[in-house]
Amino acid sequence: MNATEARQEIEQLVKELNQHNYNYYVLDNPTISDYEFDQLLRRLSDLEKEFPQFIQPDSPTQRVGGDVTPEFETVEHRYPMLSLGNTYSIEELKDFDNRVANLLGNQHREYVCELKFDGISISLTYENGLLTRAVTRGDGKKGDDVTTNVKTIRSIPLRLHGDYPSFVEVRGEILMPHKSFQQLNEERERNGENPFSNPRNAASGSMKLQDSAEVARRNLDCFLYYQKGENLTAKNHYESLMQMRSWGLKVSDYTTICESMAGIEDYIALWDKERNNLPFDIDGIVLKVNDYAQQEQLGYTAKTPRWAIAYKFKAEQALTPLEEVTFQVGRTGNVTPVANLQPVALAGSIVRRATLHNADFMQSLDLHHGDWVYVEKGGEVIPKIVAVELSKRKPNAKPIAFITHCPECGTPLKRNEGEAAYYCPNDKGCLPQQRAKIELFVSRKAMNIESLGVEKIAMLFDVGLVRNIADLYDLTVDKLIGVERTFIDKNNEWRTTSLQEKSAHNIMQSLEESRQVPFDRVLYGLGIRNVGETIAKKLAGHFRSIDRLRQATIEELVEKEDVGMVIAQSIQDYFSDPKNIDIVERLRKAGLQLAISEEEEQLLSNRLEGKSIVVSGVFSIPRDNIKQLIEKHGGKNVTSISKKTSFVLAGDNMGPEKYKKAQSLGVPLVSEEEFFDMIRD
Ligand code: IVH
Repeated sequence: MNATEARQEIEQLVKELNQHNYNYYVLDNPTISDYEFDQLLRRLSDLEKEFPQFIQPDSPTQRVGGDVTPEFETVEHRYPMLSLGNTYSIEELKDFDNRVANLLGNQHREYVCELKFDGISISLTYENGLLTRAVTRGDGKKGDDVTTNVKTIRSIPLRLHGDYPSFVEVRGEILMPHKSFQQLNEERERNGENPFSNPRNAASGSMKLQDSAEVARRNLDCFLYYQKGENLTAKNHYESLMQMRSWGLKVSDYTTICESMAGIEDYIALWDKERNNLPFDIDGIVLKVNDYAQQEQLGYTAKTPRWAIAYKFKAEQALTPLEEVTFQVGRTGNVTPVANLQPVALAGSIVRRATLHNADFMQSLDLHHGDWVYVEKGGEVIPKIVAVELSKRKPNAKPIAFITHCPECGTPLKRNEGEAAYYCPNDKGCLPQQRAKIELFVSRKAMNIESLGVEKIAMLFDVGLVRNIADLYDLTVDKLIGVERTFIDKNNEWRTTSLQEKSAHNIMQSLEESRQVPFDRVLYGLGIRNVGETIAKKLAGHFRSIDRLRQATIEELVEKEDVGMVIAQSIQDYFSDPKNIDIVERLRKAGLQLAISEEEEQLLSNRLEGKSIVVSGVFSIPRDNIKQLIEKHGGKNVTSISKKTSFVLAGDNMGPEKYKKAQSLGVPLVSEEEFFDMIRD
């Protein structure tokens, strides 16, 4: 194929794929199968690899992410991003309407009623139709440039279509649909990470990620509700929304025009109920004066427009009897009180339990046996108790006390000064804590033993086969086959499962593979208090082996960047406990990597000596491994392209800006294949 043909086919494929993307993510109406889509995408990706000079800025291959933003640039908003005045009361909405009416004299007025999406606001700049910049709200004047992350959101077009202006800024809300939220939290729990408390936090956390490939996996969505620019043609807000829709942007279908308070009240009543059936969270509705000339006449206060207001829904509440308070012991021994309630319907689901957070919170509620309590679901997934209905309290009811001993092992609970939580200090003997340590060890970021999920660990733990992480390496197929577990499922029914031969082999296989997991991840998997993934990496890189880490003094430990007294002390505490030493020695015998491997330690060659290399795009092996290879062959990794860059190691979907920059500075591109040829013996 010659270059002209390639260019034509690339352009055609980009157009076609973008249309399918739009059908699927904006219109919710796909016209081809996922398989067919993937075939076309693969064809495009192959062509782009061969002809990188023709990679289009709006190519759908740009959406899988790959570029890493070490630090987001703070940029000034061209137009400040205002917020909205808000109210919870219909009375105040009427006051707002009266103010508007007074200021407009006897002009006819109408309002656009919209959903108030519960996500994070974003400003998108399109220049000549192309998405060039995406900035978070920040303080309203300056925000973070998160363009790389935003490009992975498939409902945001990379290029507008139709009759768009040469420059426009559109604003909207990035949100995480319930389905994506649930998937993400399940995965996080499997990996021993804290789940996000609500979809808004999850969306916000996702936008702050440095690795755009991870953002791409989070399945975010975005609705647009506002445009700003110099030569815009719409005469009113509603028309501007319809224009935005015609340019391919995702604009909500649930927008309507109301001319009276009665209509507005109906809209509120409708959505206060229907919000339980939406696939994402809304926290109210927004009213905007439709006519642009009237908007101008009404003007702005310092922070908010006088032509718009948000009405926020009150969190739904339910009143129900408290049956009992139970206490849960978490991974680090923290004890959380939980209210068990008589089941009650609330915001589209049945609530049976609510968190009471900690002893202080429980005390502030002053719960008594037999109390009736108000539960609320306010954005949070876990409902909370907000108040006690005192009129229903029996005169002789006794207060409910916080426990003094661990409900699992009976050890007296402790509380550190300044901390809210009581904890069980018996971290070795307390069963849920022991089990959680094993869950952390097998999790994705530690040993990544996929065949051992939470369920299987519970099975092995309950029968006593695995009580600590070293026990895992004493398992055999024979010991595993037939292990049974009986438990109560979600429907309150007893169930028994048993391990089959195939699972037993899978478990043994993944344990075998885990023997190759590098030292830093083994170190993280040990579950030393306060030693997370990043600190483990730094410690492994610095001390090189578990033995040297064990011998390190507090002074030597705190010398290391990011290691403070608390971490240093936790490390010393860990190694001063003979039970831990025993575990480490058993892991050593099992053949785990307790030191940086010789390969990792030594330079493999000096073929890349003196070379500064920028890595961009997606490769057949993880990008971190590519970077390690560069260092092991004497090269240096740098993050941005300059005249001094020796070459750009370009994987799939390299960003077009990087490509342009490399071209303009005459920095050569090297493909993954060529790179491997360079370092091969
Ligand atoms: S309009 C100048 N419309 O609510 C007008 N905002 O509490 C700017 N929001 O910062 C905002 N849904 O993040 C507007 N349909 C909607 C909205 C909406 C959600 C958010 C937005 C804003 C915040 C104000």
